[in-house]
Amino acid sequence: MHTTVGIIGAGPAGLLLARLLHNAGIDSVVMERRDRGYVEQRQRAGILEQATVDALRAAGAGARMDRDGIPHHGIELRFGGRAHRVDFPSLTGGRGVMVYAQTEVVKDLIALQLADGGPLLFEAEATGLDVDGAVVRYRHEGREQTLTCEYVVGCDGFHGIARGAVPEGARTTYERTYPYSWLGILAEAPPVHDELIYAHSERGFALASMRSPSVSRLYLQVPNGTDPADWPDERIWDELDVRLGRRPERGPVTAKAVLPMRSHVTEPMRHGRLFLAGDAAHIVPPTGAKGLNLAAADVAVLARALIRWRETGSAELLDAYSDTCLRRVWQAVHFSYSMTALLHTEPGQSAFATRLQLSQLERIATSPHAAAELAENYTGLPLPD
Ligand code: APR
Ligand code: PHB
Repeated sequence: MHTTVGIIGAGPAGLLLARLLHNAGIDSVVMERRDRGYVEQRQRAGILEQATVDALRAAGAGARMDRDGIPHHGIELRFGGRAHRVDFPSLTGGRGVMVYAQTEVVKDLIALQLADGGPLLFEAEATGLDVDGAVVRYRHEGREQTLTCEYVVGCDGFHGIARGAVPEGARTTYERTYPYSWLGILAEAPPVHDELIYAHSERGFALASMRSPSVSRLYLQVPNGTDPADWPDERIWDELDVRLGRRPERGPVTAKAVLPMRSHVTEPMRHGRLFLAGDAAHIVPPTGAKGLNLAAADVAVLARALIRWRETGSAELLDAYSDTCLRRVWQAVHFSYSMTALLHTEPGQSAFATRLQLSQLERIATSPHAAAELAENYTGLPLPD
């Protein structure tokens, strides 16, 4: 099979790229090693920056988001026994975020692609890549097959094959792991608050988010290697009460998983005819809800570059893709790291370190300049020109 752009991975990055290209008349093939059901139910963060909302609308995938998404104009920080609301519009010239689950974004994009897009192959695993000739070998329907392309985009996430197809001598990896994880739960219980609550506590971080007026998404900082089975529902709710400083309405926990924390960047995000986008190139701890938004920003930049190449033959924007994305990626990596370090209590953390965290949280609560730094990053830095 031949196509202009071969896309490995049907997560947000691969699916959004396919739609943006389709709408510009550029053909692509998306191959996804999992089945549709698995991809559509994978629980991930649910905060969309304005740039991501704009990209989804531009891709024609904004209808359900505009109907069911919940605009948010601030978050609540809890620390030292107090609560402080960070207002976004007044600190960012009017920006906010949209609460709309990644599962729903993926469902919307898959439905569109299956309706009128190019081939979207499920249970099709890319097994090899020839980055110079843009050839993808993959296994589908029990057969080894080959896809030849003008360009290949690795949207295959942190555990994909694209990043590893770049020769080790041609790539540099930057990585940090964290001495804690998150226990994430879905519960059939109304959201704790009408906005998200980020809670610092010497017992560990807690986050109260939401999926709908009747479904909560909640997180607790736990030690690395925690077994979810060690956290029965009652223990989770009791710990949330303590760390959030309030008693959420309880309900059955319908999903429970432990999520490790990592920062990772691979440079460059291009090698020959292979481009990397989204988690295939970079990972951030979920504290700042940047993962999906960075993936969307990468593919918005790449789609614009591919469209320019198709329309004019100029590869100028393609050649600039990696540097263009990495400038914004590193800002988001820094923000995600900083927000994580500010709000989490490391094992054996000194009292001095805790006081520093509380003093910085106090700065955010009392200085519009400190609060603006958080609000600007959280609502999303401008996309590169
Ligand atoms: N062949 C085909 N598909 C593959 C292969 C392979 N060899 N390896 C991985 N995949 C698929 C995975 O099954 C997954 O569906 O690539 C997809 C990658 O999707 P994501 O991991 O969601 O990555 P991305 O699209 O960059 O989106 C990043 O999603 O993972 C979250 O927290 C992350 O919010 C962030 C966003
Ligand atoms: C979520 O809703 O899953 C979520 C929200 C904000 C975060 C992380 C996760 O910072």
